[in-house]
Amino acid sequence: MKHRHPLLRIVATAAIAAACLPTHAQAQTSPSGRLLASNCFQCHGTNGKGPGFDTLAGKSASEIYKEMLEFRAGKEGPGIMAKHVTGYTDAQLKLIANYFATVR
Ligand code: HEC
Repeated sequence: MKHRHPLLRIVATAAIAAACLPTHAQAQTSPSGRLLASNCFQCHGTNGKGPGFDTLAGKSASEIYKEMLEFRAGKEGPGIMAKHVTGYTDAQLKLIANYFATVR
C-alpha cells in the first residue's frame, strides 16, 4: 500500500493540467482592433483618411473585410496591400475591419 496505483497518478496529473488550462488561456488576451489596425495608420491615417492613400472612413466593416480578403488572395495583384494583409488571421482582419468602420 506504499505506492499508489500508476493510473491514479495519471488521473491526478491530468486533473491538475486541466485546472491550469483556463488560467493560461485567460492570460493570452488578443490585441484589440485598434492595435491591429495601427499597422495601417501610416498610410490610411488613424481616422481612415490617409494622406494620399485610399480612404477607409465611411466604408462598412463587411466591405473593408471583403477587400482585405481579395488583397490577401492576390486578386488585386502583388502590391502594397497584398503584403500588408498577409499574416493576419480571418478573425484579426474582422477586428481591423470593425475598427475602421467606426472611424469618421
Ligand atoms: C504602405 C502603405 C499602406 C499600408 C501600411 C496599408 N495600406 Fe491599405 N492601401 C494602400 C494602397 C497604396 C492602396 C491602394 C492599392 C490598390 O488599390 O491596389 C490601399 C488600399 C486599401 C484598401 C482598399 C480601399 C479601396 O477603396 O479600394 C483597403 C480596404 C485597405 N487598403 C486597408 C488596409 C488595412 C486594413 C491596412 C492594415 C492592415 C492597410 N490597408 C495598410 C497602402 C497601404
